[in-house]
Amino acid sequence: MPAAPEAPAVTVRVPAKVNVQLAVGPPGPDGFHELANVFLAVALHDDVTAAPAPPGTGIRLACEGPDADAVPLDDSNLAARAAALLAAHHGLPTPDVDLHIAKDIPVAGGMAGGSADAAGALLACDALWGTATPAEELHALASRLGSDVPFCLLGGAALGQGRGERLTPLPVAGTFHWVFAVADGGLSTPAVYRECDRLRAAAEPAGQPAAEPAAGAAHEPRPDPVLLAALRDGDAAALAARLPAANDLQPAALSLRPALADTLAAGRAAGALAGLVSGSGPTCAFLVADADAARAVAARLADSGTCRSARVTTAPAPGPTTIGTHA
Ligand code: C5P
Repeated sequence: MPAAPEAPAVTVRVPAKVNVQLAVGPPGPDGFHELANVFLAVALHDDVTAAPAPPGTGIRLACEGPDADAVPLDDSNLAARAAALLAAHHGLPTPDVDLHIAKDIPVAGGMAGGSADAAGALLACDALWGTATPAEELHALASRLGSDVPFCLLGGAALGQGRGERLTPLPVAGTFHWVFAVADGGLSTPAVYRECDRLRAAAEPAGQPAAEPAAGAAHEPRPDPVLLAALRDGDAAALAARLPAANDLQPAALSLRPALADTLAAGRAAGALAGLVSGSGPTCAFLVADADAARAVAARLADSGTCRSARVTTAPAPGPTTIGTHA
C-alpha cells in the first residue's frame, strides 16, 4: 500500500564497507566472477530518507554531501532502482516517494556507497509503505540490485561467496581502527574486473588459456583461514600481515591508476600497520594500531599529496539502523 501523504518520513543510516579479503575466481558465463569476499562494515555512513510525495511525483531523488555532484539522480541510481523494485515486488502502482541521500561515503570508491544507498532505500521504503517485507525477500531483492547490497543490509562482518551475495556472518572481537585515503575521481568496477582478467590472461603461459580448468583452479577463491582467525581474535597485527596480498583486484586497480602505489606507500610511511586498495578502488584502506595512530596517520596522509582526503573510522560497524521517523 503506498504511503498516505501524511505518513512520517523514515531515515535509515547505512554503513560503508571494506573488503579485508577479496579473492576473485575466473569469470563465469554471465561475466560475473566467483568470489570469496570478506566484508567488514565501517563506521562511515549514508543516511537515506524516504518521504511521501504528492500523487504523480514518481520516485524523486535528491543527494547532499561533499561528493553529491558525482551521484547520478536518474533511474540509474541504485536507491531509485531499489524503491522501484520493492514497489514492483509488492504489486504497488508506481510509487510517489521522495528519496533523500545525505552522503558521507566516498562515491565510486570501492566502499559500496551506492549499494548502501540501495539497502537504505529498501528499508526506508519498506517502513514508509508498511510492506513489512520478510528478511529473506529483502535479501533476494538486494541480490538483484547488486553484489554488495545484501551485505549492506547485514553489516558487521561476513564472508560473501558466489557473486558476494551468499553471506555467512563472521565473528569479530573488539574494534579495528582504519584510515581511508579518498582519491580524486572514481574507478569503474566492471573496468577493474576486466583489467584483472586481462592481467591474468597475460600472465598465463602460452597455450594455457585462463578458461582451462587447470589454469582456473589457480584462482579458485578461498577464504584465508589465518585472516578469519585474526578477525575472530581481534588481532590487528595478524590481520595486517595478511592485507597486502588479500585483494585480488588490487593489481588491476594499480594498473589502471598507478598513482595508488604512492598512496599505499605514503600510508605505510605514515605509520599504518598495513594498507590495501578497498574493493575495486580507488579508495585505499589502512589498518592502524589504535585511535591515536589513526589520527596521526590521517594527518600525514592528508599532507602527503597522494589523496584528496583521509578519513578516520572503526570497524566492524553495525548494520542499517532507523535513526528517525519524522513528519
Ligand atoms: O553486482 P554489481 O552490479 O555491483 O557489479 C558491478 C560489476 O562488477 C559487474 O557488472 C561485473 O562487471 C563486476 N562483478 C563481477 N563479479 C562479481 C561482482 C561484480 O565481475 N562477483
